[in-house]
Amino acid sequence: MGKLENQVAIITGGARGIGRAIAEAFVAEGADVAIADQAPESGTAELLSVLRKGGRRAIYVQTDVTKEAEVKAMVERVEKELGPVEILVNDAGIGEQVLLHEMSSAQWDRMLNVNLRSVFLCTRYVLPQMLERGSGKIISIGSQLGQIGGHEMVHYSASKGGVLAFTKALAREVSTKGVRVNAIAPGPILTDMMKDETDEWRDKKLTEMPIGRFGQAHEVAPTAVFLASDDSSYYVGQTLGPNGGDVML
Ligand SMILES: NC(=O)c1ccc[n+]([C@@H]2O[C@H](COP(=O)([O-])OP(=O)(O)OC[C@H]3O[C@@H](n4cnc5c(N)ncnc54)[C@H](O)[C@@H]3O)[C@@H](O)[C@H]2O)c1
Repeated sequence: MGKLENQVAIITGGARGIGRAIAEAFVAEGADVAIADQAPESGTAELLSVLRKGGRRAIYVQTDVTKEAEVKAMVERVEKELGPVEILVNDAGIGEQVLLHEMSSAQWDRMLNVNLRSVFLCTRYVLPQMLERGSGKIISIGSQLGQIGGHEMVHYSASKGGVLAFTKALAREVSTKGVRVNAIAPGPILTDMMKDETDEWRDKKLTEMPIGRFGQAHEVAPTAVFLASDDSSYYVGQTLGPNGGDVML
């Protein structure tokens, strides 16, 4: 018996990286999953075949999580095809490095839209049904940069700090109604998001990492399984940090 047996989960940004690792870990624990990502559906055959390998149901719903109508339609389709959504993982996100005094308002708006508005929208459309059933888990992927700030990443850091504050505030609203809300703040994880970093940045950052290396997406996924399962029944509004010791709170 898996820890998430027969539970339906939506994972935004699950086409690759950390979201995909979470989706793979969820099906291994018996969940059925819907991947909501903006990547073209045409490239998702391999992903879906991996997710369905153990007999679990998996669907892909191409969605731009910044667009309200698309998010609403995505949630409706998942409920129709897979059933009531018990777990939402808000993972979709983007990164970018730019100094604040050179940042355009368009860059600011895009970052906040993808990384924070999407968390509001996706949560907004699954939460009423969770409250009605008196059961659900919402897990949002923040970042350690939302805790400590990142150089040339004021907009990213602000969006991720917003995700962590969103988590705490919502947890105060819904925890007595059976819905648990928590966040994950990963450290540097080797995904496509990190591929634009320079060698100079990597070398310097590695010297700062207590564990002496960057993380892998599969090292974040167990934290999501924990927060999605009853093992975390007393965790409310928390931010857990798979970060190699880069941030110690
Ligand atoms: N990689 C890291 O070092 C790191 C560290 C801390 C936090 N995070 C966070 O983890 C999450 C996943 O990042 P990752 O490293 O796996 O990056 P990634 O770039 O590999 O994956 C991000 C996914 O989000 C999707 N996405 C982006 N914009 C979208 C939109 N508007 N609508 C729908 N989907 C969209 C992309 O298509 C992609 O599949 C992000 O929120 C990121 O900020 C990453």
